[in-house]
Amino acid sequence: MFFLYKKKYHLDKHGIVTKKSNSNIALIKYWGKHSDKIQIPLNSSISYSLDKVYTVTKLIYNIKEKCDKNISSIKVFVSGKKNYFFLQKVSEFFHRISFYCSYLRNYDFIIETYNTFPHSSGIASSASSMSALALCIMEIEKRFFTYFLKEAFLRKKASFLARLGSGSACRSIYPGLVVWGFHKSIKGSNDLYAIPYPYKIHSIFTNLMNTILVIDETPKKISSSEGHKLMNNHPYAKERFKCANRNMDSLISILKIGDIQEFGKLIEYEALSLHAMIMTSNPYFLWMKPNTLNVIHTVWEFRMQSKKNIYFTLDAGANIHLLYPIQEKNYILQWIYSDLIDYCKKVIESFCC
Ligand code: PMV
Repeated sequence: MFFLYKKKYHLDKHGIVTKKSNSNIALIKYWGKHSDKIQIPLNSSISYSLDKVYTVTKLIYNIKEKCDKNISSIKVFVSGKKNYFFLQKVSEFFHRISFYCSYLRNYDFIIETYNTFPHSSGIASSASSMSALALCIMEIEKRFFTYFLKEAFLRKKASFLARLGSGSACRSIYPGLVVWGFHKSIKGSNDLYAIPYPYKIHSIFTNLMNTILVIDETPKKISSSEGHKLMNNHPYAKERFKCANRNMDSLISILKIGDIQEFGKLIEYEALSLHAMIMTSNPYFLWMKPNTLNVIHTVWEFRMQSKKNIYFTLDAGANIHLLYPIQEKNYILQWIYSDLIDYCKKVIESFCC
């Protein structure tokens, strides 16, 4: 198989590798995966990688006295503290990827990781943390493999590995607009790893701000893996997957011609569709909080009156991402801090990078 580790390698006794990876926000959402395959999406998705919100991970590896079939010891520290929840995720991840990176079985690991965005700010950190870890592992592979490995291969395999940790993490390997999941109109798109968006993008979409309004800081009551599962018996699932794929076609032409108003309509529609899916699952859930709706209504009113191009999208939670052209930054930030601040616990200023 393409990503299997080749035989010719040497092993270092120990080493340290540090990598950074940005978080991302999906414009067309991945929601639902095949129940009989590992982390294979039921529709294609596209996201912007986000500057200023990222994870830095240090991976320390020490050779074991005796190699066995399992990865025996992993210690995980998040912002300097032992973290049992993340340890479980990481252990499962190492278990899944050890087939593709068999050299890992020779080591014990210590992982030290932190996010630049405030701890438990309600921003999903699994995309940036799993992708940072996948990049660390590929750096190790580069050191061990006796032949030169091309950057393109290292990224591709990092995306492939990151996907096995958290689906959306595979998009965080690249900057800019990134696609994951096969789509007939996107050359090179596939379910196994993400690719940089391969077509022309109008300049208006290369300089977008992304301001994150943190409405709720508490951990989600339903995790995204539980949410994905609910799509398997969802009465509207088939239509949702078709709709997401049609939206991708629309987005391709919007990105080319630079129609920011249509872009805005589409991303808001996608965000509300994702939430509609979770509201109509069995069991049903509601991620939005009263202040999520307060912000949405205030944005719509402001947009109508000011004619500014400002649009929202939502992740799997109550928090809001506002997207707008960088040229509008001063005016819009001033408005956010005067008219929206009371609805928010925190404001994180980032941009689509
Ligand atoms: O990667 P996961 O399993 O955490 O799922 C992410 C799902 C959404 O964030 C809601 C959408 C997306 O495409 O990122």
